[in-house]
Amino acid sequence: MHNIRGLDTDGGEVVRMPDGSGKPRVMNIGLIGFGTVGTAVYQILQQNREELRLQTRVDLRVKRIVVRDLTKPRPVAVAEGLLTDNPQDVLADPEIDIVVEMVGGAHLKPVLLQALASGKAVITANKELIADHGPELFRTAEACDVDLLFEGSVGGGIPILRPLRETLAAGRIRRIMGIVNGTTNYILTQMSREGKSFAAALAEAQLAGYAEADPTADVDGHDAARKLAILATIAFHSRVTTADVYAEGIRRITPADIAYGQQRGWALKLLAIAAQEGEQYEARVHPAFIPATHPLASVNDAFNAIYVHGEEVGETMFYGRGAGGMPTASAVIGDIVEAAKNRRRGVSFSEVQQYNDWSRKEQVRVLSRYYLRVALTQPAAEPAARTLALVGAGAAGEGSQFADGQTSARQAVEHLLPTYGIPVAYLSEYRRPDGTGDLVVETGLTTEGALHTMREVLHGVPGVAAITNIIRILN
Ligand code: NDP
Ligand code: HSE
Repeated sequence: MHNIRGLDTDGGEVVRMPDGSGKPRVMNIGLIGFGTVGTAVYQILQQNREELRLQTRVDLRVKRIVVRDLTKPRPVAVAEGLLTDNPQDVLADPEIDIVVEMVGGAHLKPVLLQALASGKAVITANKELIADHGPELFRTAEACDVDLLFEGSVGGGIPILRPLRETLAAGRIRRIMGIVNGTTNYILTQMSREGKSFAAALAEAQLAGYAEADPTADVDGHDAARKLAILATIAFHSRVTTADVYAEGIRRITPADIAYGQQRGWALKLLAIAAQEGEQYEARVHPAFIPATHPLASVNDAFNAIYVHGEEVGETMFYGRGAGGMPTASAVIGDIVEAAKNRRRGVSFSEVQQYNDWSRKEQVRVLSRYYLRVALTQPAAEPAARTLALVGAGAAGEGSQFADGQTSARQAVEHLLPTYGIPVAYLSEYRRPDGTGDLVVETGLTTEGALHTMREVLHGVPGVAAITNIIRILN
């Protein structure tokens, strides 16, 4: 591509486009946060400066970078005087046009509000802030006529929010289902494929820069819940906050659950699901077994994938790197480009219209199939030597009896569940050499409410030590 260089009236370098139109202006960026994502944003802005200038007709320059600890060694060299530990060096600088917040956490709200109120465009990947304080931020952005963009907050490098807000705007979105947390997907992949422990896989995810500063948000499902709240709010045009999303994490998943699931032909994933029907929606994040042939089953490591089902468009799927510095920075740069172009044109975009006022469906009424793992005690009359790895596999109803002729825990469970409205679709009993064992049950469709009742009842069954795990099964 040809371009002609010269000096702008404000001192910036002019790059005229091949058709001779327009002239670039300098826009200064204040970067707040210089960790995994912030550093990658800076690197792309430096490395691709020329391309970005040609695309936007704006010369994007990083004027200040705010960090917490000025003494910390940085993987990337920056010019003297660029780093500061005072956010006011960005917020109070009238020459800064665009604030890029790459810190995270709800405590950043006053910083973003001040930036917007000062007329600066704000780019963030802070899902906590957008999910729970979005309306206040959007109102401020609109009142101040500035951009507030947050593509990096969901799906890392996957372009999902802009398609949902704009390209799919014509359609009525009925359902969203996907893998939206890279850390947990990485952990589950490593546990399933490599047999790694939860702790070892989490440590690797942290080292790779996928996890949040406090990985509790990842492993307990809160990060995915925040992302689902953002997705559902945009898709359903109804306010959905993190508190409206039922969230369960992956802490209680063990290699044994994954192995039992694999024997049934399933893969285990942490899924985020939002569905709308009438004036109600359901929004939930939880581990789920899906068929190994399901497209989401092959989404591994830190990759994310999001299905969006719209009434008009049908099924669409968005797939890519859901975490990591460079992929997320790619989405952030996309927002910077949009903000720069908008600013040059004198327009802004921040709205997320929430004209519906739908209510959340109670979680106890949500229907699902379930995998139950029931820990069995050593049967009193059963010599440990006779017990084996797998003593029963097959359809429910075959039953089995212990040597003393009494009803087994397996039979009790098998007969109890249907009396609570829980169909038993499959049941297997596994025994260890010490005589203890596991009963693995697959239920038919039932409500979460029925399952909670059943959980209490099963605790009283002789031979049942504990309900070790309950995991939803999806088709
Ligand atoms: P990091 O923990 O790697 O970096 C955080 C940065 O913020 C550090 O530079 C830190 O300074 C700085 N910082 C922390 N507290 C303050 C403060 N009070 N004032 C000024 N600066 C502060 O985070 P990430 O880069 O991983 O994440 C940044 C944001 O991007 C978060 O909102 C996160 O959820 C989001 N995100 C992250 C993804 C990822 O894969 N990592 C993917 C998608 C979104 P110092 O360097 O001095 O410690
Ligand atoms: N901690 C987040 C994840 C980063 O693992 O998905 C991307 O939002």
